[in-house]
Amino acid sequence: MKVVTILGARPQFVKAAAVSRAFNEYPNIKEVIVHTGQHFDANMSEVFFTEMGIPKPDYNLQINSLGHGAMTGRMLEEIEKILIDEKPKYVVVYGDTNSTIAGALAAKKLHISLVHIEAGLRSFNMEMPEEINRILTDRISDILFCPTETAINNLEAEGYANIDTEIVQCGDVMEDVALHYNKLVGNDDVLLNALKIESGKFVLCTMHRQENTDDPATLKRILTSLHAINEIYPVVMPIHPRTAKKIADLGLEIHFKTVEPLGYFDMIRLIRNSKIVLTDSGGLQKEAYFFEKFCITLREQTEWVELVNNGFNKIVGSNQDALMEAFDHFKNKSFEKGTSLYGDGKASSVIAKRISQE
Ligand code: UD1
Repeated sequence: MKVVTILGARPQFVKAAAVSRAFNEYPNIKEVIVHTGQHFDANMSEVFFTEMGIPKPDYNLQINSLGHGAMTGRMLEEIEKILIDEKPKYVVVYGDTNSTIAGALAAKKLHISLVHIEAGLRSFNMEMPEEINRILTDRISDILFCPTETAINNLEAEGYANIDTEIVQCGDVMEDVALHYNKLVGNDDVLLNALKIESGKFVLCTMHRQENTDDPATLKRILTSLHAINEIYPVVMPIHPRTAKKIADLGLEIHFKTVEPLGYFDMIRLIRNSKIVLTDSGGLQKEAYFFEKFCITLREQTEWVELVNNGFNKIVGSNQDALMEAFDHFKNKSFEKGTSLYGDGKASSVIAKRISQE
């Protein structure tokens, strides 16, 4: 049975590392991978395929660096051609990117069964492109694999009990990934030494969301806050190309450490050794929790509300006072993880088993 997986952006490569491995356990599943090309720099794409052993994409559409409409439209057109040729039983899409919605629309209009992994998440902020992508993808999917009970509740609240869609709470594939690779990645000091930082004495920060990078006032406010944190503990930011470009265009100065985007293994090394994580990434909020670090989220909402409700995460937006308060709150607190909020690390096995049954 043929499954076409649509990938395009960094977090999707990470998730596919677990799911593709699980598909391999089922000889009746043949996976064909389509990379839209949305993320294309070697350190935003290729490094994940190489170090995580993700099968090489069968197609690379090389569609990137365009506005939302042009990017999504061109992807839709090209993915449709591939699906007509490949005639899969299922199309699998992940998360909430432009590659996700393009893959979903192409599949559904050809009446191919659509599978959405990481379904049911909501930020309730309709200005985020990701929120639009995920709501629309969920609505036209045939199988929704949800990572959390919150996701299931979100779908119920939207009336999914009356929609002919299969909903499965399978846990979070990112937990599968973290558990698997944590064992394989040695605690190597090379990176910490190169960055001149000490274990437990730096703040790991990532930031790339359009709502933070594209409004100059917000971007400036966040940089000012990061400079204030940097006075207490060094801040290290693997810098996303969108963020680097916006900062350069505005001629803003950075007074903390930045590095080029890192592969998954180096990110694990930094998370494990960090004091606190500061981010606007969805994935990193959970990875902080997997590796028992508190997280401060540079957004006005999060899809991962269970982290906030259980005291592992504080939402501060771009407000400097709230950020400093959250930092003081977490700085000397000990992390007690309790029962896992994201399943037992077997989400990808549940997904592959279900797909293998047709
Ligand atoms: C996208 C997703 C977001 C996801 C994020 C992960 C959408 C709407 N957004 O945002 O949900 O969290 O990926 O990183 O799909 N660029 C490079 N090199 C690269 C990749 C991007 O230079 O390898 C540049 C692009 O040309 C563009 C900018 O960075 O100018 C932003 O890239 P884009 O694909 O628009 O979205 P992301 O911000 O990465």
